[in-house]
Amino acid sequence: MGEPQLITTPELSLDELLEEILKFDVIFDSWDESQKGSVQAYRQSVEDLHREAFRRLIGVVKAEPAALKTLRNALNDEVVYAVLRHFELIKASLHERVEEALDSVRPMLASHGGNVELVAVKPPNQVDVRFVGACDGCPASMLTFNAGVKKAIETHCPEITKIEQIRGLAAPTDANGGVQFVSPFAVNQKGGWVDAGKLVDVPEGGVLKFKITGEDVILSKNGDVVACFQNACAHLNLPLDEGDVVDGILTCPHHGFQYDLQSGECLTAPEVQLLPHAVRVINGNVQVRLAV
Ligand code: FES
Repeated sequence: MGEPQLITTPELSLDELLEEILKFDVIFDSWDESQKGSVQAYRQSVEDLHREAFRRLIGVVKAEPAALKTLRNALNDEVVYAVLRHFELIKASLHERVEEALDSVRPMLASHGGNVELVAVKPPNQVDVRFVGACDGCPASMLTFNAGVKKAIETHCPEITKIEQIRGLAAPTDANGGVQFVSPFAVNQKGGWVDAGKLVDVPEGGVLKFKITGEDVILSKNGDVVACFQNACAHLNLPLDEGDVVDGILTCPHHGFQYDLQSGECLTAPEVQLLPHAVRVINGNVQVRLAV
């Protein structure tokens, strides 16, 4: 047998690969318990085989300092990292532990209509975070920051001694993947994001109408907050994009219902509100994730 040859194949993103797995999970969920058990057993045996192969591969690599350095570099690849973490062959990264810390306080923040996003991890000892949604600019945010977010990060990541609260639309950096803004409650959403143009095209303090995968929506930008809603008034479903915006309040051009463009709350009839879609800004590009 000759020397084994390595084969190069086209690269797929983690999102694409996970979406493919999710499709099968949906199918398996509709099966009966005995069929599900068979699938689970098959999956487990395949995973055991792969885990053992990776374990042996890492064992070989660890014996070579130069190869170990290469492996550490390879862990910057999201797919390599995700798979080795899944098999519990590497410890959680600092980034992941910070996210775990933030996840532990997100339910508390969500109960107040807010959230916190990880802006940047700056090894060896600094983390930048930013409040979004109702927590951003809230008078109690300093208390929430110190008692909740800061304490959670310090508990999960003892090596972090400096935690900065960033204000304003985050600057795109490699450390945060270029993410400048994420809607509250959409921070951890993967997949389903659709490109919606450039942030500079969204008028400050106004709304921009466009169609995304067949859905009429409006985008708004007000200071640090970018929001997206269905372009339909909660009164009679008529379009809102011709309405006036003053101080972040949109007035429907038809019968005058008013809406807070940060939250979608209707100020005229509090029992209704606009249908929000998640929005994020990456490197100045807006992406929307339609509500189902
Ligand atoms: S349709 Fe908007 S107020 Fe009537």
